[in-house]
Amino acid sequence: MDKNEMRQKHILIVGSGIAGLSCAIECAERGMEVTLVSPFPSERAQSVLAAGGINAVLDSHEEGDSIESHIEDTLKGGCNIAGKESVRGLCAGAPERIKWLEKIGTVFTTDDNGTIMRRAFGGQSHKRTCYCGASTGKQIVTSLVMEARRYEGLGLIKRRFWMDFYEALIMDGVCYGAVFYNEATADLEMIAADSVVIATGGQNALFGKTTGSTLCDGYAAGRLFMQGVELKNLEFIQYHPTTLETAQKRMLISEAVRGEGGRLYYEEDGKRIYFMEEKFGERGNLMPRDIVSKTMESTGKDIFLDITFLGKKEILKRIPEVYELCLKYSGIDISKQSIPVSPSVHFFMGGIAVKNNHETNMKNLYAIGECASIYHGANRLGGNSLLAAVYGAKVAACSIEKSALTDETMYQEVEAIFQKDIDAGRAKLNEGRQSQSVFPAVYIRDMLAENMRKDLGIVRDEEKLKKGLDDVTYYLSVADKIKYDKSEMPFLSFSLTGILNLAKATLLSAMFRKESRGAHVRSDYPDTNDLYAYPSIVCFENGEFIVRLDKEGEYER
Ligand code: FUM
Repeated sequence: MDKNEMRQKHILIVGSGIAGLSCAIECAERGMEVTLVSPFPSERAQSVLAAGGINAVLDSHEEGDSIESHIEDTLKGGCNIAGKESVRGLCAGAPERIKWLEKIGTVFTTDDNGTIMRRAFGGQSHKRTCYCGASTGKQIVTSLVMEARRYEGLGLIKRRFWMDFYEALIMDGVCYGAVFYNEATADLEMIAADSVVIATGGQNALFGKTTGSTLCDGYAAGRLFMQGVELKNLEFIQYHPTTLETAQKRMLISEAVRGEGGRLYYEEDGKRIYFMEEKFGERGNLMPRDIVSKTMESTGKDIFLDITFLGKKEILKRIPEVYELCLKYSGIDISKQSIPVSPSVHFFMGGIAVKNNHETNMKNLYAIGECASIYHGANRLGGNSLLAAVYGAKVAACSIEKSALTDETMYQEVEAIFQKDIDAGRAKLNEGRQSQSVFPAVYIRDMLAENMRKDLGIVRDEEKLKKGLDDVTYYLSVADKIKYDKSEMPFLSFSLTGILNLAKATLLSAMFRKESRGAHVRSDYPDTNDLYAYPSIVCFENGEFIVRLDKEGEYER
């Protein structure tokens, strides 16, 4: 028997939030050996911030609901550019994923009979969002960590923290592993693998303050893009309608509040105007997020969310976490006062382009969770992101299980080739350590975030996008030349070029789509145009950015 046939398949997973953890467990369940690498432990992943819930049509579904209507709502919410087959798989696979989560210890909120309760969420024809109070993400992470530890005990999962993704080992369209900056040794380190799964979350840091974590900086997607990995639908950036300004971030006021009956209004001449209900009828407050955010913006008024009528007892029973957060961070007692809310960046429908099995355009390189662009089209429905994370993780693991083992002799060849890059990276690190210069990388990151918020806001136009492009092009022209403040985390300066290239690709994708669709609203092209009824793809070839439409279904179908 040849030695390759005897060894276990080794999978490298980058990112340890819900998608990464789920994929690690799914791979381990299939007898593969996993190294799960991330800069921080899972408890600090953005996944713990996910509040509202996870969608599934369970056996105990509301009358009239069906998997078909979950599919229909998802495709319609995504403005008909998500893949029909992929969405079918997602919705049909949802009930099994909920059972799996329950089996590994996720405690969902149930009624007195032990039936999982469901709440109404935006853009959905029925109540199908299963939840754990308003801290669903935290509960799921807790159970996944416990399960991962079990496999750690069995020697199938190895978790490594304080490791920042640097680049993938890609040669001739095949991925052989990745390089990391190891914060403990302050050095670069290669890890070889049969398959690599990227699960690094969205790109919040591009926009500074969002509802998510700025630890999700988009660097991995940006760096992979520079290595030839194609990106998709970057122009679709979800603004969550109800967020509250706090010193550190935009605090998410979960859609659960509107699911429990919360009403949006503004005041005019001392009177409350329930503008969403006036415009869209009884379910107006629960329209898909793109529509709610756009309508809020169009009023030009300060908007409030009222849930006081539910009374303190019911509020504490149904949305206790929202009550606590508002009181603790803003001194607002939501049982007595309305909440001042405004839209803020919340989710990225765009990211790494993947096929239905979650493989990218590079063989053996996969992407899952928010960093992958699949299932959501031009606008994601609330409750579908946790589902996409746990479902996509399983799909990727099943595909990886079927893939062939890498011929080990290739690793030496690849390592020899990448050694040059690693030496250059080390030299740059040393240069930074010895530098007397005090130009902080974080300064460029902050300026970039300010530009992105202005130029890629809820409503865009050619002029704003061009201005954004000029700014990013300028930052890119200086990013590699300046010496950074040695007191900064060295990785921050490393990551700048990748992040800026991702920002440029996003602006170019938004300029390319000359129509309004879902979360991409252009005042200069206010109508939806059938010519653009496809996902956009952006690639980087010989230093050039090329944007096209995926008319042939090269990726998600
Ligand atoms: O509003 C929310 O609770 C957010 C949920 C989601 O984005 O899926």
